[in-house]
Amino acid sequence: MDLEIFDGLPLDISRLDGLRFAAEEEGIENVSRLIQDWILGQTLFDGTGECLCLAEVGGLIIGVGGLLNCKVVPDALRVSRFYVHPDWRRKGIAREIADEALSHVWNFAKVVTCNAQASSIASLFWESLGFREVNMPGITHMLDVSKIS
Ligand SMILES: CC(C)(COP(=O)(O)OP(=O)(O)OC[C@H]1O[C@@H](n2cnc3c(N)ncnc32)[C@H](O)[C@@H]1OP(=O)(O)O)[C@@H](O)C(=O)NCCC(=O)NCCS
Repeated sequence: MDLEIFDGLPLDISRLDGLRFAAEEEGIENVSRLIQDWILGQTLFDGTGECLCLAEVGGLIIGVGGLLNCKVVPDALRVSRFYVHPDWRRKGIAREIADEALSHVWNFAKVVTCNAQASSIASLFWESLGFREVNMPGITHMLDVSKIS
């Protein structure tokens, strides 16, 4: 597998059609919201510490994920818009995207939050990366950045 994880900014939304179609087919809004908010100029992943990463194999975009500022916890970043095409799951793609997205996070935040309600698998995925379950409005998990190895 010739996997490349790269900075997805500025976003070329025409490359996300396959991913958006697959996500919509399984009733997940991550990718269509990413595209819509980008078109509207509402979420450009350009705040302090924010980023957007894409995963590509053989010229095809097969995964996406990024960091945005957390609106709930002050000075925290939040993992956002993580999605991997169903044909490419359980191959470590999302872990690679998260590793890249989180690689500089210690410069900007002490904790990273997430809302793992997008799918039943999301909690298992984030917990595999060291996120711990929390009980806060709009947040299901948190990662202590000092624990990133
Ligand atoms: C969640 C998602 C991004 C994971 O992508 P992925 O590339 O398949 O994940 P990885 O292969 O990197 O998995 C890393 C670890 O997460 C856990 N995990 C991932 N998928 C899992 C599953 N279906 N069942 C149990 N554990 C799972 C495992 O611990 C896995 O490690 P392992 O394969 O060595 O056991 C993908 O399933 C997806 O896009 N789901 C729909 C959208 C979504 O839920 N996004 C998250 C929003 S918060």
